[in-house]
Amino acid sequence: MRILITGGCGFVGSNLAIYLKQKYPGYKIFTLDNLKRRGSELNLNRLNKAKISFIHGDIRIPVDFESVPDPDLIIDAAAEPAVLSGIIESTRYTIDTNLLGTINTLEYAIKKKAKLIFLSTSRVYPFRLLNKLRITENAYRFQIGPSQQMEGAGKNGVNESFSLTGPKTPYGATKYASEILITEYQEFMGLSAIINRCGVIAGPWQMGKVDQGFLVHWLASHYWKKRLTYIGYKGSGKQVRDVLHIEDMYNLIDFQIKNFNMLQGQTFNVGGGIENSISLRELTRLCEKATTNRMKVGSDSKTRPGDVKVYITDNSKVTRLTKWKPKITISETVEDVMNWLITNEEILKPIFT
Ligand SMILES: NC(=O)c1ccc[n+]([C@@H]2O[C@H](COP(=O)([O-])OP(=O)(O)OC[C@H]3O[C@@H](n4cnc5c(N)ncnc54)[C@H](O)[C@@H]3O)[C@@H](O)[C@H]2O)c1
Repeated sequence: MRILITGGCGFVGSNLAIYLKQKYPGYKIFTLDNLKRRGSELNLNRLNKAKISFIHGDIRIPVDFESVPDPDLIIDAAAEPAVLSGIIESTRYTIDTNLLGTINTLEYAIKKKAKLIFLSTSRVYPFRLLNKLRITENAYRFQIGPSQQMEGAGKNGVNESFSLTGPKTPYGATKYASEILITEYQEFMGLSAIINRCGVIAGPWQMGKVDQGFLVHWLASHYWKKRLTYIGYKGSGKQVRDVLHIEDMYNLIDFQIKNFNMLQGQTFNVGGGIENSISLRELTRLCEKATTNRMKVGSDSKTRPGDVKVYITDNSKVTRLTKWKPKITISETVEDVMNWLITNEEILKPIFT
């Protein structure tokens, strides 16, 4: 088995590469990455030690795929993944990487007859509709209400039949446009693909920042006593997301690789689920406990464009078809990330401070 992981020096890509290589030493794994994400260069050493090949390349440039030995499978984990990318930063880079980069990847997959696992996002669901979910509120968090009226929403969160019509943020739009093209390549060009619409994923080697990787950003900021702010929703810190540990994500990808023919053509919502959901305010408590540092968190009442009060993944479909379920709790994820920060303090400090 030869696997190409685009974005293989990023958080998801590097961890998947290393887990796969540990479990299947005979697999040949290649990573292609332009090292755009700050901190992704730190993964070169890990990949090298694990005997995983690195190719410095850019998915925006078709010729960059040519130095990769022919793969049987491509895991597309290269992206500009920040929700605010394309809004406060270059829209062009987001479109070029997340959409044109996908097209180049699809063309390459067809040429090499390689299967594809595509990492999409819950952000394909329109933010205005998500903000119309029935929400309850207590002192610590917003919570998805027990009865929902919209198709695809229920007490356990959002499933795959939730409407896709409406603005999503440029990030979500480029991912959704990629999904549409994948469907066309499946129908007319003979592509075999699985799409995972992931909620928040977290774990060691995530270079968390304000608008991407919030759990790691929050914990690292507690650890190094960096200023933190609850942004939006009156600065309450009550916004909620479900969080999936990267090892749980890997276990699903492993199953999908082994059962590809049964699952190809499917699109799955994949996330930590309702049991692994947390508000920022609640995360603050966990971070205080883990680091023993108590921070005064500031408040900024202005809600960021495209933000949602609550997103929870309903994993029913993926669990029904694969028996996969997340196993790692948020407290365990925090503990795991904390150990990583302590063990790698010297190289991580310049990234996070
Ligand atoms: N981490 C999450 O919470 C999460 C949630 C939902 C979906 N996803 C998806 O999972 C995938 C991986 O995300 P991640 O969290 O590992 O992000 P990441 O930023 O850590 O990794 C992405 C990698 O892609 C590389 N990259 C960026 N532009 C590139 C280009 N033009 N050519 C080649 N490489 C390029 C970056 O250098 C980085 O190493 C993305 O597609 C993202 O949309 C992630």
